[in-house]
Amino acid sequence: MAPVDWKQAWRSGRTPWDAGLSPPALLELIASDTVPAGRILVPGCGTGYDLATLAREDREVVGIDLSDDARAAFEATHPELPGSVHYLVTDFFSYDAGNGFDFVWDYTFFCALDPDQRSDWADTMSRLLKPSGVLATLIFPFEDPISDREGPPWPINTDLVRSFVANAFEEVEVREPEASHPGREGRERLALWRRRSP
Ligand SMILES: C[S@@+](CC[C@H](N)C(=O)[O-])C[C@H]1O[C@@H](n2cnc3c(N)ncnc32)[C@H](O)[C@@H]1O
Repeated sequence: MAPVDWKQAWRSGRTPWDAGLSPPALLELIASDTVPAGRILVPGCGTGYDLATLAREDREVVGIDLSDDARAAFEATHPELPGSVHYLVTDFFSYDAGNGFDFVWDYTFFCALDPDQRSDWADTMSRLLKPSGVLATLIFPFEDPISDREGPPWPINTDLVRSFVANAFEEVEVREPEASHPGREGRERLALWRRRSP
């Protein structure tokens, strides 16, 4: 399959993944105080609903995406936010975070990548998170067993994600969220992984 031209998808308004708001699972994590203060990263953040949902006075929230048009959509819909929120147009794989992040939120980013990028995804997550920082993955579209349907979104499941993060992360929690976007019910799993100390 040809790699996806994400910038062109945004330019031409072909963004079928965009649900228009944050997934209920992120609201669950926030309500249960699972998301810490400090530095938060949202890779492949698209329109950035999750940046707004995570924004708080005691947080620095960084969203990254390849597309200027995605950032423009974010800026048009989220003018005022608490705390410090930055939207960087850059490539996740070459992004240098400096001090590292306390928490990373991945929703519909892992499943959007080509399968041959998954090892790099895990290495980059490990590089960007502080030791003991948490990687939260909302795994979608969940399939068990995984079919041979081609993506994106590529069908994925917890065992698959675990196989990429197991070296550098320990499992904290895996569960089905209480609610999902309409049409995604039963096809999401919330999995939290803590970065091991080097
Ligand atoms: C399926 S969309 C999901 C967007 C958003 N998370 C959402 O749920 O609405 C995947 C996003 O990842 C971005 N993306 C793909 N590869 C990327 C990369 N290497 N670095 C940064 N962003 C990337 C795309 O531009 C796109 O906005």
